[in-house]
Amino acid sequence: MFMNFRRIRKCQCVQLLTTGLLLCMVMVCWEELDHHVVSHMRSYTYRYLVNSYDFLNSSFAVTSNHPQRKDGSVSADGGLASYPYLIDHPRKCVDRRSRSSILLLLFVKSSPENFERRQAIRDTWGNESFVWSELGANVRVLFALGVHPDAERRPSVQRALFQEDRVYGDLIQQNFLDTFHNLTAKLVLQFHWGHKYCPHARFLMSADDDIFVHMPNLVKYLQQQSGAKDLWVGHVHRGAPPVRRKESKYHVPEELYPWPSYPDYTAGAGYVVSADVATKIYHATLLLNSSMYIDDVFMGICAKAMGISPQEHVYFSGEAKAPYHPCIYEHMITSHGHATDVRSLWQVATHPTVYRHSRGFIGNLYCKAVKVMLLCLPHYQSTYSCIGAFT
Ligand SMILES: *[C@@H]1O[C@H](CO)[C@@H](O)[C@H](O)[C@H]1NC(C)=O
Ligand SMILES: *[C@@H]1O[C@H](CO)[C@@H](O)[C@H](O)[C@H]1NC(C)=O
Ligand SMILES: *[C@@H]1O[C@H](CO)[C@@H](O)[C@H](O)[C@H]1NC(C)=O
Ligand SMILES: *[C@@H]1O[C@H](CO)[C@@H](O)[C@H](O)[C@H]1NC(C)=O
Repeated sequence: MFMNFRRIRKCQCVQLLTTGLLLCMVMVCWEELDHHVVSHMRSYTYRYLVNSYDFLNSSFAVTSNHPQRKDGSVSADGGLASYPYLIDHPRKCVDRRSRSSILLLLFVKSSPENFERRQAIRDTWGNESFVWSELGANVRVLFALGVHPDAERRPSVQRALFQEDRVYGDLIQQNFLDTFHNLTAKLVLQFHWGHKYCPHARFLMSADDDIFVHMPNLVKYLQQQSGAKDLWVGHVHRGAPPVRRKESKYHVPEELYPWPSYPDYTAGAGYVVSADVATKIYHATLLLNSSMYIDDVFMGICAKAMGISPQEHVYFSGEAKAPYHPCIYEHMITSHGHATDVRSLWQVATHPTVYRHSRGFIGNLYCKAVKVMLLCLPHYQSTYSCIGAFT
């Protein structure tokens, strides 16, 4: 009896100790848990509120009647709320071939020193002549830039940019520092330029300079969408929580954005809007305070203010690269993180034989199996969701 009691006490002790240890571990990991699980759960439940009510757009509304600059100051001339152009091409969208038929105005967000990336894009997916002669579509590819943030290097980099633009004529540069926290200024540049000089383009796309765009697939997709209204398509982030860790690049303080969830938005790596949406976003940039420096989130706030919600397309990428495989190339639209292999990927991904792999019953079965392997098994960190295997 006495022995038994002692044994029970011993068991309880062990239990108590393990519980204590577990609690300690949870507490040590709590911060991580909080950021990655709790804040996502909280924000996802909150998301409904952010997307349904208009407290967000009223809190971002600019109170004065004057257009504002990126830094919140009112522009002196009362004119368009943006920085002066250093390099501009007002006639870039005037159609040389047949008026009124520009399918896509594609802005690549680049930085002054990224000459190599721009060159790779011009040689591959950004080649307007290729798109015209091979795909029969009229697109314009422009690079959106600010000025080099380092005052010492700025003059020489700027000279190189003028030189580059003399050769290719495809840079659009405004006089703001090209930094991460000025990305919203670059977003405003794109929509203002598009509104002013290219309002007849049927679609506008914004893309990073380290993504790969499968132009043949994109053009095919857009041609099927002709006449589309209210289209905003990309890789959608739903109910994403603001990052509150100070060390993070994406840190947003409570003063700037007090709510636990952003409105739904598409990843800034690459998304497309139809002409009517581009016009609405332009108007939103005039009405809303642009102090939110994460550009794709700001885009979400603008869109919400205009009553537009984003659409998911499985083959637009988020953060990661697409798996390298012909069965994937057949459908891919964008893939992120290709600073160095754009040329080789362009060669293989747009090769005419790509579409042969899934031909016939056997081919179809083979590609389905490959896509399930690549997109649905957990050990592959892919940018496309598993649903992509079944569409
Ligand atoms: C504000 O948000 C609501 C709800 O999302 C939306 O319907 C409305 O059009 C928005 N815009 C303005 C300018 O109030
Ligand atoms: C924009 O918001 C910021 C931060 O919330 C504020 O400091 C600034 O005064 C606002 N600017 C305008 C023009 O409303
Ligand atoms: C762009 O495409 C055209 C037509 O296919 C081709 O002749 C030209 O060499 C390409 N330009 C570059 C820079 O690759
Ligand atoms: C954005 O650009 C403006 C104009 O050059 C500059 O004054 C400001 O400091 C820049 N902001 C950031 C966060 O780099």
